[in-house]
Amino acid sequence: MTNTLMKFAVDDGSTNVKVSWLADGEIKSLVSPNSFRKDWKSAALRNDKKVYNYTIDGFKYTYDATSDKALETTHVDYQYDDLNLLAVHHALLQTGLEPCNVSLVVTLPITEYYRFEDCQKNEKNIERKRQNLMREISLNKGETFNVVEVEVMPESLPAVLSTLVNSNCNEFTRSLVIDLGGTTLDMGIVVGEFDEVSGVYGNNEIGVSMVTNTVRKALAFADSDSSYLVANELIRRRHDDEFASEVINDESQIEMVREKMNAKIHELGKQVVTEAKKFAKNPNRVYLVGGGATLIFDAVKEAYRTLGDRVILVDNAQSALAQEMCLYHADENNSAEAGSDE
Ligand SMILES: Nc1ncnc2c1ncn2[C@@H]1O[C@H](COP(=O)(O)OP(=O)(O)OP(=O)(O)O)[C@@H](O)[C@H]1O
Ligand SMILES: [Mg+2]
Repeated sequence: MTNTLMKFAVDDGSTNVKVSWLADGEIKSLVSPNSFRKDWKSAALRNDKKVYNYTIDGFKYTYDATSDKALETTHVDYQYDDLNLLAVHHALLQTGLEPCNVSLVVTLPITEYYRFEDCQKNEKNIERKRQNLMREISLNKGETFNVVEVEVMPESLPAVLSTLVNSNCNEFTRSLVIDLGGTTLDMGIVVGEFDEVSGVYGNNEIGVSMVTNTVRKALAFADSDSSYLVANELIRRRHDDEFASEVINDESQIEMVREKMNAKIHELGKQVVTEAKKFAKNPNRVYLVGGGATLIFDAVKEAYRTLGDRVILVDNAQSALAQEMCLYHADENNSAEAGSDE
């Protein structure tokens, strides 16, 4: 363990943790899927495969990418429990950096971060999340990072921070931010260059997992591997014919799998659009973020046709939030240092 203090921005979503940090002035990012089960794994046969066995408060957990006993991380309480602590530490260990003291910026779903009634910060939830991440965790035959500071930000909205600030919008501009993740659809309305947040929305029944589940069923029907990982990869590489024929054993079913997937993507787009239109009928701009953004971009563009190219798919949609928080955090740091010199 080294004594340096490093800063990490961690967007700890319900299905994947996205981490960003600065190294030699360059921004680095990684995505670490949440897949943990109870008890420990035995040592790996191959030396290059690392086993991650953790203990929290006497309870044993292990990282297991393909386990069908993986613990659920898709409920709101996940934000404050053992699994969240595990997911964040596990993701930090994937950076390959030597464990050290760390200052984290993490996220809470928008509807946990803000109080629905008045869009004010929910200090109780924020503090609960901070305390949870300061708890003890140990890694068998290894070291974990030492969390010394935790700052919490809302999911979704900060993903468009620099885009908004550089976009010449005025103080009346209303930007709708749509974040489609693995299990939730989150939306928020930002006024001006982040002068105010005027509305938040969260729906944990709409997410990419709707498509994943359909694809899993179709894959099983085509005598093929139907794990979450493979199904998600097939969705991501849906335009790659070679990949499809690699993972779909029964070639006569490739078309069927594709049709089922496309129909579900279409349905997902329709549901998102219905909710978005109900939430914000006439925003001035629309920004799409989250892992599912590319799947629904066309549907959203069509729904807000009059906005034309003011419907924007944010670059690196899945990691955008972690990256923006990382830049913001670094900036904040610089100005604090500049301030202390005076
Ligand atoms: N380029 C892509 N095309 C299609 N699907 C993708 C792409 N990138 C990521 N995904 C899918 O998006 C989902 C994860 O998105 P994301 O990381 O935003 O979710 P999350 O933050 O964990 O979930 P939530 O916000 O609901 O808590 C996964 O199902 C993943 O397979
Ligand atoms: Mg998310």
